[in-house]
Amino acid sequence: MKRTSSLFWRFLCPSLPALALALNLHGQTPLYLDPSQKLDARVDDLLARLTLDEKISLIHAGSKFSTPAISRLGIPERWMSDGPMGVREDISRDSWNAAGHTGDFSTAMPAGICLASTWDPDLAHEEGQAIGEEARARGKDIMLGPAVNIYRTPLCGRNFEYFGEDPYLSGCTAVGYIQGEQSQDISSCVKHFALNNQEFERGSIDVEVDERALREIYLPAFRAAVQEGGVWSVMGAYNQFRGQHCCENDYLLNQILKGEWSFKGLVMSDWGGAHDTRECALNGLDLEMGSSQDYDNYYLAQPYEDALKNGSLPMDGLDDKVRRNLRVMFATHVFDSDRATGSLNTAAHQAVSRRVAEEGIVLLKNNGILPLDTSRIKTIAIIGDNATRLQCHTGGSSELKALYEITPLQGITKRAGDDVNIIFSQGYATNGGPELAARAVAAAKLADVVIYVGGLNKQPGGDSEGADRKDFKLPYGQDELIQKIEAANHKTIVVLLGTPAEMDAWVGRASAVLQAWYTGMEGGNALAEILFGDVNPSGKLPCTIPKRLEDSPAHALRAYPGSDGVVTYSEGLLVGYRWFDTKKIEPQCPFGYGLSYTTFKYSDLKLVPGAKGTIVEVQFNLENTGNRPGAEVAELYVHENRPHLMRPEKELKGFKRVYLQPGEKQAVTIPLTQTAFGYYDPSQKSWVAQKDTFTILVGSSSQDIRLNADFSLPETLTFN
Ligand code: BGC
Repeated sequence: MKRTSSLFWRFLCPSLPALALALNLHGQTPLYLDPSQKLDARVDDLLARLTLDEKISLIHAGSKFSTPAISRLGIPERWMSDGPMGVREDISRDSWNAAGHTGDFSTAMPAGICLASTWDPDLAHEEGQAIGEEARARGKDIMLGPAVNIYRTPLCGRNFEYFGEDPYLSGCTAVGYIQGEQSQDISSCVKHFALNNQEFERGSIDVEVDERALREIYLPAFRAAVQEGGVWSVMGAYNQFRGQHCCENDYLLNQILKGEWSFKGLVMSDWGGAHDTRECALNGLDLEMGSSQDYDNYYLAQPYEDALKNGSLPMDGLDDKVRRNLRVMFATHVFDSDRATGSLNTAAHQAVSRRVAEEGIVLLKNNGILPLDTSRIKTIAIIGDNATRLQCHTGGSSELKALYEITPLQGITKRAGDDVNIIFSQGYATNGGPELAARAVAAAKLADVVIYVGGLNKQPGGDSEGADRKDFKLPYGQDELIQKIEAANHKTIVVLLGTPAEMDAWVGRASAVLQAWYTGMEGGNALAEILFGDVNPSGKLPCTIPKRLEDSPAHALRAYPGSDGVVTYSEGLLVGYRWFDTKKIEPQCPFGYGLSYTTFKYSDLKLVPGAKGTIVEVQFNLENTGNRPGAEVAELYVHENRPHLMRPEKELKGFKRVYLQPGEKQAVTIPLTQTAFGYYDPSQKSWVAQKDTFTILVGSSSQDIRLNADFSLPETLTFN
């Protein structure tokens, strides 16, 4: 629904001539205020009316999250907000303190890694749309998300915000999200471009990565955001790439993003990510945001204006930046009376949050104990600090002032009903002593079933912005605690929140294990629905869980966290499952893995010539052979048989989530274009799909391939 909302428009609409009069434009409706005109014509018209000072004011911050208004032309302040999981609490204009508003409670969506675990771009679209609606209702213009940096090491403090280790899955998730959000007259801002894969020394670390890994692993999600998602804003990363900060990086911003990908929107800095006027001016930054209050002295403020005036920097560079900023304003209908006005904290938004949690929680192990049957259970012990910990309001810039948050303890207690006795025991604490563990063991002995709810939290050093994890172990002595609980009660279900951790010490004796991420305001309800079987789990891992940290590539090669300010990604293309598969290292749980309460049969694989633009269509049947309804994510990987350049063992190139009733069978079609077969050839500076035989692998995870067939590409294709 669209309706007029901002005060500005309430006063001045509906008559454009009246607006023109009010703006002292001699009663004539200026072209830029005429919505029937083409976007670029409106941009040019407004650009021509701006003074130098006004232009400069549009390309740097005027407060923590806004740029100033230019009232004589009716240009309103432009408001940005974090972030990827909902609209953040309003921050004071000039400090990081909360603004103290009362209308800034919001719907809290699950973390990005949970959204990626749904393998459901349509649901990502719904989430994006819901956040876009809330953003509009809160008067925002640009939302700082989604965040699509690749999960390179399990230790990165911001992995929870990102979409996992695979570029294709990340890209599909981002595209759905962006299209949903931008449908609400909001600009998404995909971040952090690029290679912000660790928080350690994030403001300065210089990333060295070879051209193929850059193109095949670290850039595709951004490229999809731009070229398929149509994203209007991109945020540069804090780190450096090949010796130049990413917010002023000629290769990334000018040559790739704006040149090769034809990006027409704006590039903003991460907060404080700009470092030099000349570099910013020439190397592609269009909007400087930051943390200091000295807005007039930002690199793209007075120092830039001085350089323009004395001729040491060219004026057309400024016009390009302003044009890009204005383009985003017109694209999101900032000047139009029918701009979407959104809605806040609706039941529909809460339902989206719940569905993302239901679809994203991953069942890793089940010896048959799940789903729980309340008629056979008298007492459940719920153990663990995360059973009661509120998570939405922490973690750094993605934190939210959630309207409410259902904890696991609340969700399970409500679902279990009055006939089941619930005992809660904290078990561990961020600074707890051994007495907590002793009490938890005593509770475990009294119960028919234990539901342990632990894992990470969003404290610094855990899943949190600004620092990486110290190691891959569960914090706060949880390995020992879980083992003690398992010894006390052999029916122990382990639910881990946060990003994955090492499980070796206790996974063998656990009756069931779930990876439950951070699941937003409805997380406790969603978890209970899965534990009791109201919802059949269907999430699949968007990242490999290694047995030990040393098994994962960046750590096996000692290529993390770098030294002397430089980190070299020496694993190249072999990130995540590409490494584990190629090197034949057995992970704890492979990429794409996740169990269900039902079973699925794959059959009848056929490769048929594709329609125009498609190389081949992969067709197969999927059948629910169990006795519960449920969704399966069918995954498609491609293996090249005789590559000229080294290629990973297999790569994800398609997937489809299918919901089936018991006994139901459905035909699935996944079209493959040339990109599914291509690799980046640095010597040709282009993508190549080589004349060769490829094996198409279809299955339930990267290591549970059910069907395969060979496909011969008759000729070599070169493309960009
Ligand atoms: C983060 C960004 C965030 C920005 C504004 C930075 O520290 O890296 O992701 O959007 O702050 O809060």
